[in-house]
Amino acid sequence: MSWNRSLLVVVIVITTAYGAFAQTAVKPDQSPTVANPPGSLPALKSAFQDHFLVGVAINRGIATGAAGRRGKELVKNDIALVKEQFNQIAPENDLKWQIIHPREGADGYNFEPADAFVEFGQRNNMDIIGHTLVWHAQTPNWVFAGTNPPSGADDVTDSAGGNEQAADAGASPGRRRRGFGGPGRGYTGPRASRDELLARMRAHIHTVVGRYKGKIKAWDVVNEAISDSGDEVLRNSLWLQIIGPDYIAKAFEYAHEADPDAILRYNDYGLENPAKRQKLITLIKLLQEQKVPVHAIGSQAHVNVSTTFETMDQALTEMTALGLPIHITELDVNSAARGQRGTGADIAANSDATQGGLVSDADQRLAEAYAGIFRAFLKHRESVKMVTFWGANDAVSWRRFGTPLLFDGENKPKPAFEAVLRVATEAQPNAE
Ligand code: GLA
Repeated sequence: MSWNRSLLVVVIVITTAYGAFAQTAVKPDQSPTVANPPGSLPALKSAFQDHFLVGVAINRGIATGAAGRRGKELVKNDIALVKEQFNQIAPENDLKWQIIHPREGADGYNFEPADAFVEFGQRNNMDIIGHTLVWHAQTPNWVFAGTNPPSGADDVTDSAGGNEQAADAGASPGRRRRGFGGPGRGYTGPRASRDELLARMRAHIHTVVGRYKGKIKAWDVVNEAISDSGDEVLRNSLWLQIIGPDYIAKAFEYAHEADPDAILRYNDYGLENPAKRQKLITLIKLLQEQKVPVHAIGSQAHVNVSTTFETMDQALTEMTALGLPIHITELDVNSAARGQRGTGADIAANSDATQGGLVSDADQRLAEAYAGIFRAFLKHRESVKMVTFWGANDAVSWRRFGTPLLFDGENKPKPAFEAVLRVATEAQPNAE
């Protein structure tokens, strides 16, 4: 049966079922918005099974089943969609330092949400990703605090400044929780010494990676260490200021000690931008020369509907030359009109720009962009081993006003879903 006919059948079945349901109607607040009974759609994970894993970042509601603001029915449906479509998961927030290790010391951990996330993956036979160990954002102040005076007023505008502050100022939906415990503000108090910070980093990595050893398959060890400004390669974060540039190598060494079998990724955004990509290549080559155990490139791919096959093809061609597998780690495609400023170095601010309306023909533009992007992934299937969407549907996306995903807020497939499946079909040797 063709996809269109399948869709028609699904629509008829749902409409009929809905009619019957509506007659025996339940309480008014339980709107029966369950779009796709599990098993009714072709699955992305099956369509690409010969090429790469297809994953999704899940929130706590999906991992635990807790209804939250989204409500019980929709969360149930989110879970059904995740199980139906994806064979790999990443945690949207619950393994970030701020959440899993909010207070100092061995008893300062909060493992419950992360445990639930890992158990969800195990129960459903999914490959599980750990995100993220060392990052300039969503890291509590205590990590950097100590008795040493801050090294100068200029230093503290650092990593949480620049584009993140611009994003805040731009009245973004405010879901990109930046900064060191406070949105967009650097920690300005007395600092830890290099040795103290390294010891905290090592303890954190050993505890967290060690706890999920053998369960979490790949880790984003260092997230977003590359600078967006000028020729500067490394972001001027507190990690860099306090430890020095070898904080990256140290993080990978500690993670490798903690789980020698885990795939260790370096993860960053904006790698579609040639200047930023060149910095990535410089950094990875340096790490490789130093025999640092970095095993894969994580390319976030928070892109927009202006992204073409050619852009993605070029990015993948250059990154593949590093000889490492490439994981697309946080894919979404912004349809907001204000979010179309290319893939320049301002991508963080740019990608946050989701207010003020969508581009015209947004659904169609999104479908075309996704088709081009997936064609590029397939062209590079020798190196692209995993493609993870950053969110299950538009309603739970951090860029929800930019409607960047394949499913709408009720988990109904958008034209982009069909377009991506079509790319998979075209890639089959016997495709008609
Ligand atoms: C970055 C991080 C993700 C997520 C997104 C959007 O890309 O790696 O964990 O926070 O920003 O919020």
